[in-house]
Amino acid sequence: MVNPGAIIQLVNVSKSFGDVRVLSGVDIEIKTGETTVIIGPSGCGKSVLLKHMVGLLRPDSGDVYFRGEKISNLSERRLSPARQEMGFLFQGSALFDSMTVEENICFPLMEHDRGDAADRKRRAREVLQLVGLDNLQDRFPVELSGGQKKRVALARAIVMHPRVILYDEPTTGLDPIRADLINELINRLRNVLGNTAVVVTHDMASARKVGDRILMLHEGNFILDTTPDELDDVSDEIVTRFINGYASPEELAELDNGQFAIAEKF
Ligand SMILES: Nc1ncnc2c1ncn2[C@@H]1O[C@H](COP(=O)(O)OP(=O)(O)OP(=O)(O)O)[C@@H](O)[C@H]1O
Ligand SMILES: [Mg+2]
Repeated sequence: MVNPGAIIQLVNVSKSFGDVRVLSGVDIEIKTGETTVIIGPSGCGKSVLLKHMVGLLRPDSGDVYFRGEKISNLSERRLSPARQEMGFLFQGSALFDSMTVEENICFPLMEHDRGDAADRKRRAREVLQLVGLDNLQDRFPVELSGGQKKRVALARAIVMHPRVILYDEPTTGLDPIRADLINELINRLRNVLGNTAVVVTHDMASARKVGDRILMLHEGNFILDTTPDELDDVSDEIVTRFINGYASPEELAELDNGQFAIAEKF
């Protein structure tokens, strides 16, 4: 059922790559003005899920809606208006190596024909300042640390002033203080500008700090949908092991007889 109150909605979305089924009939509603956090083990399909929300991947079956309009079957050209309202922070930053920081940030503005050169430059400076990198506009990505690249990618994701921001691991690879500043920025974008956000993360401190809602993806579907306050009351063992960082006996057994059999190799 399409919910007009949800800014993004996935209905019964399934996706496989070859014979690997990644999403199995996923339903999710992203509510306007909220920050929805998605956690889950590495490789479980979090990035794949996020890419469906912005139309970078198409479901094998099921539908994706943006503001009540089905977008999962739109051509690239007809997707463009929805895309302009969504900022996407890629997990690997995905900066263009041949462009400077400023050119990278101006790219979405150029692509959608926003402002003149002076406007674009001014907006690039504004967002660089927001992420704490005011003096790096002329550098090339190769001259940046991983954390700096991540912040440039974040600046690029917000330069169009999108209503919805999709963050794929925004704090991974940042030092704890810088990670906390990014959490603060995510919260300010929600509180001051009323942005809607979807944050994919492994960083439980970040999940608790920015999330209005926390969902966990596991084996193709959600096994948790709760609030940060109620997270510690959850009793499901798969969830509690994940949020507290404890491997299961079965996972530990892999150390003895699997790929990590250190004693035999050294
Ligand atoms: N374009 C693709 N082609 C083939 N397989 C893919 C593609 N994208 C993702 N996959 C596979 O889909 C599964 C889920 O990948 P995804 O990147 O969504 O994981 P993730 O939950 O984001 O993991 P991580 O926490 O490590 O980033 C993995 O098995 C991955 O190999
Ligand atoms: Mg990922």
